[in-house]
Amino acid sequence: MATEKTKPNLRASISFTPEQMAKKAAQEIKTLLEKNPYAVLGLATGSTPIPLYEELIRMHKAHEIDLTKPTYFNLDEYVGLPVEHPESYHSYMDKHFFNHIPGLNRLKVNILDGNAPDKEAECRHFEEKIDAAGGIDLQILGIGENGHIGFSEPGTPFTERTHLVELTESTRQANSRFFDGKIERVPTHALTMGLATIMDARKVILLASGPKKAESTYKAASGEVTEDLPASTLRNHPDVTFYVDRRAASHYPEYVKLFSSPEAVLR
Ligand code: PGA
Repeated sequence: MATEKTKPNLRASISFTPEQMAKKAAQEIKTLLEKNPYAVLGLATGSTPIPLYEELIRMHKAHEIDLTKPTYFNLDEYVGLPVEHPESYHSYMDKHFFNHIPGLNRLKVNILDGNAPDKEAECRHFEEKIDAAGGIDLQILGIGENGHIGFSEPGTPFTERTHLVELTESTRQANSRFFDGKIERVPTHALTMGLATIMDARKVILLASGPKKAESTYKAASGEVTEDLPASTLRNHPDVTFYVDRRAASHYPEYVKLFSSPEAVLR
């Protein structure tokens, strides 16, 4: 694993608005695609990356980047939701990203099948597909209020690869806003890339916007590296940038200080 050989390097970039944050993150992806148009990109769902996808699509339409060339792997998918359910992550990705890329070869899109009869085999197969693609060049992440990344919940071993997970109450509560506010409608399980899978990505960008993310992001960037806070594993990654908006940074004065230089290197 790259992390054993290379020094950890966590950079931070604070923006005023989520839209400005998205533009900066999109620039990092553009720079990667200029070097490697066929890069393998790891994608995330949730509210946070939507402005990033909008910016990437704008760039694609303006011929600044070509989104038909990369290969895509999604972080996670609910178990038991039909693919066509509006809240499945298959539907999310189509709505916010893939449907806006005319000519995209769908064979380049890899999303876990939450309805696969054999979940373990599905997870193994997903890992094999990542390997066969040459590994993930850049992984996009959000962060949960409890510090989860993907659906790797607190307590997940850092060594875990793609696996079946039981969702915590806090995550189901947070996601109930997409299910008419009814927690009982939120699936109880999901398939997710593991923390070891994420740590193998050559580059990671983590996006955090809004005050609810302030605490988990701050702890991930500066607190103890612990399995109780899955995102803290990124402190050992050789190439990770936290893109944070003002509201996700504003709770803690020391947070702003920590991230005061746009290219602050934290160890
Ligand atoms: P959000 O979710 O972007 O909808 O806040 C992020 C996450 O829980 O990972």
